Amino acid sequence: MSLPRVREDLHALDGYHSAQIDVEVRLNTNESPLPPPPAWLESFRSSLGGLELNRYPDRRATDLRRALADLHRVEVERVFCANGSNEILQCLLLAYGGPGRNAAVFEPTYTLHRHIARITNTAVVAGQRLDDFRLDLGEVVAVLAEHDPAVTFLCSPNNPSGRSDTRIEMATVLDATPGLLVVDEAYGSFSGASALVLADRDTAEGQRLVVVRTFSKTWAMAGLRLGYLIADPEVVLACEQVALPYHLDAAKQLAGRLALGFVDEMERRVALVTEERGRIAAGLGRLPVETWPSDANFILFRPRTVEAGEVWKRLLVRSVLVRDCSRWPGVEGCLRVTVGTPDENDRFLRALTETLS
Ligand SMILES: Cc1ncc(COP(=O)(O)O)c(C=O)c1O
Repeated sequence: MSLPRVREDLHALDGYHSAQIDVEVRLNTNESPLPPPPAWLESFRSSLGGLELNRYPDRRATDLRRALADLHRVEVERVFCANGSNEILQCLLLAYGGPGRNAAVFEPTYTLHRHIARITNTAVVAGQRLDDFRLDLGEVVAVLAEHDPAVTFLCSPNNPSGRSDTRIEMATVLDATPGLLVVDEAYGSFSGASALVLADRDTAEGQRLVVVRTFSKTWAMAGLRLGYLIADPEVVLACEQVALPYHLDAAKQLAGRLALGFVDEMERRVALVTEERGRIAAGLGRLPVETWPSDANFILFRPRTVEAGEVWKRLLVRSVLVRDCSRWPGVEGCLRVTVGTPDENDRFLRALTETLS
């Protein structure tokens, strides 16, 4: 007997996977270039022994949620955690998307918004950003009015451009959005701004705002998979309904809670990354490439003299891995480099200079 056929609509979906190649300088997936702080690792190790691993974990992740609520100065009922912010996005779409409902995206943006929408059988409606990657507010309002999306996604700073949407732009989208406005702030700590300033719970607009964050970047915990949202308590309850029971394991809850004791260290790291980002931008400015200002921990650039795919290969030969976005709609001919350690950034700039000369 042969295997059952998978859902027909899955055939049409491309995976979203960056190459996992063994190289000396890995600058392709926007992770933290440094491991978590040694003191965090020490406290994580020593606290692990206190976990009752024969028992299911706290289903509501109470301590972790409380620590996150304190960090953001919001009520604990407004926080929900999951296995990476991608799972947060999936929960939101399971709860608010689905057959007969639309999700709106404004391209180019994070591919997983579209991808997870389609996996959850949510139709995707897309508007385009302007050539400099700013939102075209006229287009946004028209798309929202025409398609009445249950979920509208913004990503600020945006991946892959690195550009942030301004507070006024986000407020305009929030006013126009008929359903939830989900602002993906995976890179929010590198910009210093947050849509949370719009989350006034006494207004209908504020209640529709969902801010999504991750431990994968600033917190240097991509390998542990932890993300969270801040939203109206009703949205949190909806996500709890669709998440699997005990979806967040005890070790991860502990890891996240302990990490929040290292805010100062993390802020120092953000300062280092933003300084290095400036140095890479200056280096790129001396080369024949087009670049765009970035508020994130990566920079998008378009080589002018050598085809991008060829540049990607020549960098790889020099053991430097960047993200090849050259065939992504809206960023054709572009590559994206993550900010690494100062040494890694030097290696990247040197390799790129050789590649383009
Ligand atoms: C915009 C954006 N959102 C979410 C994610 C996923 O983060 P997580 O590791 O928390 O699932 C990424 C990862 O690169 C991202 O770029």
